[in-house]
Amino acid sequence: MLRRSESDLKSRMITIDGPAGTGKSVTAQALAARLGLLYLDSGALYRGVALWAERVGIADPEDPRLAESIAGCNLNAVTQDARFRVRLGEEDVTDALRHEALGQLASRLAVFPVVRDLVARILRQAAARHACVAEGRDMGSNVFADAGLKIYLTASLTVRGARRLEQLRALGKPSDADAVRREMEDRDGRDQTRTASPLRIPANAVRIDTTRLTQNEQVTLIEELYRGGGWLRSVGFYRVCHTFLRILLIGLLRMRVHGLAHLCHGPVVIACNHRSYFDPPLVGTALPFAIGYLAKDELFHPGWMGAIFRRVNAIPVRRGAADRRAIREVLAALQRGMPIVIFPEGTRVKGDQLGTPLPGAAWLARKAKVAIVPACIWSDGFWRGLRRGRILSAHFGTPLRYPPEDGAGDVAKMTDEIIAAIGELRREARENVEKPAQVDA
Ligand code: DC
Repeated sequence: MLRRSESDLKSRMITIDGPAGTGKSVTAQALAARLGLLYLDSGALYRGVALWAERVGIADPEDPRLAESIAGCNLNAVTQDARFRVRLGEEDVTDALRHEALGQLASRLAVFPVVRDLVARILRQAAARHACVAEGRDMGSNVFADAGLKIYLTASLTVRGARRLEQLRALGKPSDADAVRREMEDRDGRDQTRTASPLRIPANAVRIDTTRLTQNEQVTLIEELYRGGGWLRSVGFYRVCHTFLRILLIGLLRMRVHGLAHLCHGPVVIACNHRSYFDPPLVGTALPFAIGYLAKDELFHPGWMGAIFRRVNAIPVRRGAADRRAIREVLAALQRGMPIVIFPEGTRVKGDQLGTPLPGAAWLARKAKVAIVPACIWSDGFWRGLRRGRILSAHFGTPLRYPPEDGAGDVAKMTDEIIAAIGELRREARENVEKPAQVDA
């Protein structure tokens, strides 16, 4: 493993936070192995403190001796054969840490700043020398707040309970399902409500719901976010391009934006017509906040082009195939709150008619349970328009939603509605070229 400069180490750092049973440990370990990073298990350190407390006879976290004697807690961590090992003095206690009672005590002790300071110090020391994957409850929000990629894992309580039960069974400690769920709820409640570094979604974190993901899928998704440059790394470059294009197109070329009020910050699928290569930057420029794009995979080759596209939030999709990686990436971006532009016609369509719609936009919106905002970019007759001072306009329509009671939702019907709404916006755009409407951007 190479030693690197401090800022390089931070940008290569991954944090994975979330409640118990979301698959943090297995995911972090697998990622560390795939990416050659050091694995840090902060929960094991809190459990190490709990074991020490038990041994010195501090069973009650309110015991005033905790603050006095914690200096004597000779806790440290080493990575041996790519496994995270916890030691008390010279004794390796890792194998004694994995039982629920110790997890409960760890959670009760973890509310005390003296305990948190001790664990944070050990973790930061380890991360000072190597790029790491650190998992826990406050890795991205507190201990490694400037990590390059922050992940927050969630899953339904039922699935989390079942996973924990399975883990305990594998360890030869079969337990009662209801008891495991109750203990989990208790622990989550305490971890989320304590004053010192509570469990919460870190700023800029990618939130991933693992309820329906296999372990391999969730590891691959994070690996791709990391290798692809992730969303976080593109922020600076996106902002520079976005500001430049807004000055040029809205400030100088007087691009008009209609229906902005239909879009609020948050996850929606924006379904737009597609006539020119300029459509993606035009939609992005029309909106005052960052959005992501689904773009054909061919645009990402050679690699330097891919790097640029990645930095403006484009997600490569292989057309004509069920590209599961692209789907996972879009869903993760939507979960993180980023609107995504999709061109339902699939390719650029010249002429006055809209192309035959593909069901992808409607399907993804249903899967992610988000609304679809129809959009139309008008850039026809550029040179003629330039002379008349009216060239470009972007139009956003009323959001379309699947009926809440209809769990399955009819994708084909929604696809037709989307294309009809885009067609309506295109008519509006044409009229606006002749008779400019009120500008709301
Ligand atoms: O992840 P785990 O089950 O091994 O963690 C045990 C407890 O340690 C958890 O319930 C709360 C505490 N903990 C914490 O407060 N902050 C962390 N970063 C990690 C764990």
